[in-house]
Amino acid sequence: MTNFYNRRLIQTADGSYTLYLPEMNEHYHSIHGALHESMHVFIREGLDKIIQTGATKINILEVGLGTGLNALLTLMRSAETGCSVNYLALEPYPLNREEVAALNYIDLTGEEMPEKAFRRMHELPFFEKERIITGFEFEKWHHKVHEASLPAESFDLVYFDAFGPQVQPELWTEKVFAGVFASMKPGGVIATYSAKGSVKRALKACGFRLEHPPGPKGKREMTRGVKP
Ligand SMILES: C[S@@+](CC[C@H](N)C(=O)[O-])C[C@H]1O[C@@H](n2cnc3c(N)ncnc32)[C@H](O)[C@@H]1O
Repeated sequence: MTNFYNRRLIQTADGSYTLYLPEMNEHYHSIHGALHESMHVFIREGLDKIIQTGATKINILEVGLGTGLNALLTLMRSAETGCSVNYLALEPYPLNREEVAALNYIDLTGEEMPEKAFRRMHELPFFEKERIITGFEFEKWHHKVHEASLPAESFDLVYFDAFGPQVQPELWTEKVFAGVFASMKPGGVIATYSAKGSVKRALKACGFRLEHPPGPKGKREMTRGVKP
């Protein structure tokens, strides 16, 4: 059985760190740049698209909190734009304190404010909701996506950031996406780095209308799905 806790810190091409699982030969982010990938796939091609519609309050679901990089960048964007965010993250294999402390995302953002917020998101017990900063409410569930009872028609935006379909094929299925689809509001958006044919077909079969923006460095395209 795979041990998801056997992981080590490595540096990616843009200087930001990520974690590597040697048993699976899988990284938490792109080796071409963890910060670059998160900014591109989830912030610019996900969150910003919703903010641009004039939304002032956004409910976000993240599948796989991991290092917390997407959550940190979302908190910073929320503070910059004044758009309130309610963030729910799922994570069955949380990082330990040493792993969190070793990450260099705060140094790279060049701002002091997020440090306390970043630490708090990791230290906050599971299933407790907290206002991390004004306009950013955060909660994490110690659940796998296929086992979580997600509320119906609640999320405006989903960051689908599980390990790749070659490593966790059971997460990229029509069944799992159907559960996520049901938890999203009409008009809601799902963003993921994967552009694999089987992933696109499964998303489409659930009813998502697909868009294919260019991918981050090292990838031709990514996938964005809109719930009609
Ligand atoms: C590609 S990593 C990305 C993590 C994160 N978004 C980040 O920026 O660090 C995938 C994450 O999904 C988590 N994960 C693994 N199995 C999962 C499952 N069944 N449901 C939800 N998350 C899962 C992993 O533990 C890991 O944190």
